[in-house]
Amino acid sequence: MSGPDPLDPATLEQAGTGALAAFAAARSLPELAVTRTEHLGDRSPVALARRAIAGLPGPQKAEAGKRVHALAQSSQAAYEARKVELERQRDERVLAEEAVDVTVLPERPDGARHPLTTISERVADVFVAMGWELAEGPEVEHEWFNFDALNFGGDHPAREMQDTLFVEPAGSGLVLRTHTSPVQVRSMLDRELPVHVVCPGRVYRADALDATHSPVFAQVEGLCVDEGITMAHLRGTLDHLATAVFGEGLRTRIRPNYFPFTEPSAELDLQCFACRGASAGSGAEPCRVCASEGWIEWGGCGMVHPAVLVACGIDPERYSGFAFGMGLERTLMFRHGIESIRDFYEGDSRFTLSLRSEA
Ligand code: PHE
Repeated sequence: MSGPDPLDPATLEQAGTGALAAFAAARSLPELAVTRTEHLGDRSPVALARRAIAGLPGPQKAEAGKRVHALAQSSQAAYEARKVELERQRDERVLAEEAVDVTVLPERPDGARHPLTTISERVADVFVAMGWELAEGPEVEHEWFNFDALNFGGDHPAREMQDTLFVEPAGSGLVLRTHTSPVQVRSMLDRELPVHVVCPGRVYRADALDATHSPVFAQVEGLCVDEGITMAHLRGTLDHLATAVFGEGLRTRIRPNYFPFTEPSAELDLQCFACRGASAGSGAEPCRVCASEGWIEWGGCGMVHPAVLVACGIDPERYSGFAFGMGLERTLMFRHGIESIRDFYEGDSRFTLSLRSEA
């Protein structure tokens, strides 16, 4: 026989010591697996010894068998013990590394209140500070409040002018309110005179969404009805609102217009807050905000039409009133140089955050 005898007791002993040392030295489960093949696998000293037993004469078999078996057992036990130890270490590490601290607050971007909410409240506050009341009405409104009581005739072209969204079934008499003016009617019917109400709310028109139009947008309406109310009160109130929203010293301007529910009716312009009118006229520095007009269209206003007062049970001989209404998106677009009305409806928190200071 050539080579060392695999059954030689010294060889076996050495193999045993070697196996124990190697298992103890393995620092990870993959390393232990390699050591296992070396010391317990098919070509390990134990395996070679087992195979050699077959070639021994009968009487020596038992003796050699015992020795080999003892070697195999002690090596196997050392392997198992190290495996348990390394598994425990791995589990501890995984638990530590993959631990989840359920008390940590999630990282999420800051949010902010929607600028339309903030501007509505800010406008409402200006009026509440003067003793006015906040009034609301339904967004699904009866045509009578949206049109008839506001002096729109049955086949008045103004009904088309409003580009109304009608509520099914046809003839239900219901529309999505096209302006906040029906809240005027409800307020006059519901309240004692004098009436001073401010009504912010959502309104609807059959417009396609583009940079400056939206089928739903926000308006704020104001109504004052008392004895002796004149257009001077209207002007003073609008100037006060302009100053509160856009800053000290901004002037307003009214130009003749037509609304069925006011007489006289006027278009309300606001002096451009950016150039303060300085861009208008030849040779002046151009202004992007007002296209060098010096003025910005802000809303509509006028003296409440006597027919509207009558529809609401108010004596037009004794009482008079003024009303105004303006778009809130438009107001904010001017104020902050926002180019698309769509920004208001896309729910991007970066937009709401950028207008946070509006509060
Ligand atoms: N309701 C009008 C509109 O939506 C605005 C307005 C309100 C005009 C009050 C006059 C008085 O265009």
